[in-house]
Amino acid sequence: MLETRTVPMVDLRAQLERIRPDVDAAIRRVVEAAQFIGGEECRRFEEEFAAYCGAAHAVGVANGTDALTLALRAYGVGPGDEVVTVANTFIATGEAILLNGARPVFVDVDPATATLDPSLLERTITPRTKVILPVHLYGHPADMVPILEVARRHGLPVLEDAAQAHGAEVGGRRAGALGHAACFSFYPGKNLGAYGDAGMVVTDDDAFAAQVRRLANHGSAATKYQHEVAGTNSRLDGLQAAVLRVKLRHLDDWNGERRARVAAYDAALGGIPGVTTPAERPGARSAWHLYTIRAADRDGLEAHLASKGIATAVHYPRPIHLQPALAPLRGRAGDLPVSEALCREVLSLPLYPELPLETVATIADEVRAFCGAAP
Ligand SMILES: Cc1ncc(COP(=O)(O)O)c(C=O)c1O
Repeated sequence: MLETRTVPMVDLRAQLERIRPDVDAAIRRVVEAAQFIGGEECRRFEEEFAAYCGAAHAVGVANGTDALTLALRAYGVGPGDEVVTVANTFIATGEAILLNGARPVFVDVDPATATLDPSLLERTITPRTKVILPVHLYGHPADMVPILEVARRHGLPVLEDAAQAHGAEVGGRRAGALGHAACFSFYPGKNLGAYGDAGMVVTDDDAFAAQVRRLANHGSAATKYQHEVAGTNSRLDGLQAAVLRVKLRHLDDWNGERRARVAAYDAALGGIPGVTTPAERPGARSAWHLYTIRAADRDGLEAHLASKGIATAVHYPRPIHLQPALAPLRGRAGDLPVSEALCREVLSLPLYPELPLETVATIADEVRAFCGAAP
């Protein structure tokens, strides 16, 4: 029994305890140099993150939503255009399309991995389609090989929403180097999280990277106060870059620790009636941002775990084609049966590198107890 102790979904203080001297030194460096906007830390983090992903360029921006919005704009996406994506994602994926005046077209997902079902992709493509935007949900990479094949046939770029997938891989290549470009979020709770907001666009395409950089910097490329296009202010903050550089050195180890906790959950939760544990597609390596099970009585399980002091979360309770924000482009219930079923059944259990393995066992015991499975 956990009794009064609360198990959080994520414990960033536990992470800080492992890296405190390096974080303190990094923050001090930025403050002493007074390089709060741009500067050496931003430049070096961009270089290091591009190298980590295996891509030529990384352009730091203010957050993951801006990364998506600016990347779509750099493709020239605008009114009258369509962007094909999924509905079981954070709203930002859809917002980035809407903010460019374009129409999101939703594809249903593979129930095993909750990522875009490539067998349904081709039929959604029209002459107005500009970009295919799969989401590496929960850290599990979308099925990129067949997605890229459809994209190639239609001459379309694939933009990865890799906001949850730092270090995920397909066939040994990392997220960020799988499509034409990729967008990352460094929201604090992500596998690689800042101490505030931050984001990144990663690509091999020189001209595309330059265009994202220009759009994020008031439409200005090299010459100060010369603005080629109307851009915006979406800057990576020097303090965030310095913290992210410290954490990037640990990312693979931390992802490995997540994987060990996932293995412990899988072993303890396999075979429980009414519970499905998350799958990993052969050839793919999830970054395990989240450990999200499906439960027949999701709401009951959520309440039971809460009563035991165990935090959980629903990612996500409503698919974005049914969100009021999409009106008048809103879809109808039943349009995307798998996505909609997932929204009723998914439950994310606590997962972070420092989560004690005994706590994983205790959480699993509570899931078994609720489901009437033998301990
Ligand atoms: C799938 C997905 N896309 C986009 C975003 C947006 O990132 P940010 O919160 O940094 O704007 C998030 C962040 O939560 C996300 O999970």
